[in-house]
Amino acid sequence: MAIQRTLSIIKPDATRRNLTGAINALIEEAGLRIVAQRRAQLSQKEAETFYAVHKERPFFQSLVGFMTSGPVVLQVLEGEDAIAKYREVMGATDPSKAAEGTIRKQFAESIEANSAHGSDSEENAAVEIAYFFRGSEIVG
Ligand code: CMP
Repeated sequence: MAIQRTLSIIKPDATRRNLTGAINALIEEAGLRIVAQRRAQLSQKEAETFYAVHKERPFFQSLVGFMTSGPVVLQVLEGEDAIAKYREVMGATDPSKAAEGTIRKQFAESIEANSAHGSDSEENAAVEIAYFFRGSEIVG
């Protein structure tokens, strides 16, 4: 299997509860390597642009409000099959449907405040990583 990179965001509900380390432990236990990491406060513009694909969805404005409600931790994860592997580690978007042991099952508060984001395809991973990180900030 190929070595891939994926963009992860530890969301404001998780940073508020001091869960960055607990989430990073699950990431590392799964064999993924955190090759870039930065804590940030997203602006409304940044959140709207990042989630532009969802702009027609009824939850869009609420999602942007939530993602700007506190600090996030932006990460690049690297490993074999990293995109699918991280989606497994996160669990289903809706925490009530997430498998035992996943980030969202353990920590998510709701379908919106679901503790973590991960890219859903190789193409989107490349776009999302480039949106937040310069090449020189990623050290594999
Ligand atoms: P994420 O994987 O970051 O992608 C889009 C986000 O929208 C999702 O996680 C949730 O935080 C949020 N969201 C809120 N409501 C919904 C919904 N009904 N379906 C999917 N995503 C939702």
